[in-house]
Amino acid sequence: MTGKFSGFMPEWSPFSVADIGQKIPKLAPVHTLDGLQDRLRFVAFAEYQAAKAFGLAPQIFPTAPDTWKNLWIKLAQEEERHTQLLLNRMNELGWAVGSKRVSDALFRSFDRCTTAAEFNIFMTNAEAWGQESGEKFAQELSERDPETAKVFAKIAEDERLHVQWAKDLKI
Ligand SMILES: [Fe+2]
Ligand SMILES: [Fe+2]
Repeated sequence: MTGKFSGFMPEWSPFSVADIGQKIPKLAPVHTLDGLQDRLRFVAFAEYQAAKAFGLAPQIFPTAPDTWKNLWIKLAQEEERHTQLLLNRMNELGWAVGSKRVSDALFRSFDRCTTAAEFNIFMTNAEAWGQESGEKFAQELSERDPETAKVFAKIAEDERLHVQWAKDLKI
């Protein structure tokens, strides 16, 4: 292991990230328009933090097998794509992603992974969580906002694949 994730803090633009210890606004209730906006922003930033972590992982765990490193790079691209899908949808809805602060606690939590194997377990759990919550959002939004529902459904379908890719490599 060479350094920690937080030692390679990415530039988070266009997100507006709270300083450590600074409170972030609560997510508005899920059934409101503000609530939908907050969730799109929250999930987009989770995807972005995952993308950056996957991208940095080969540097942080240089002795990991090449098969793992290749998967991380592929997943970094996938999570970047998910970030973009969600940012595009926010843009279509006229919502500025930087108008509310978000927390980078997820990214900082990757520091707890001290080995490549731990990182894989942590990320596979996160992918499974992403799949579940994506399916849930897609269902909740199916009538209210079918376009956004489609975005979440597509992401959930991809996350299911990501979990499978990790399984195929027996990680
Ligand atoms: Fe994703
Ligand atoms: Fe993923």
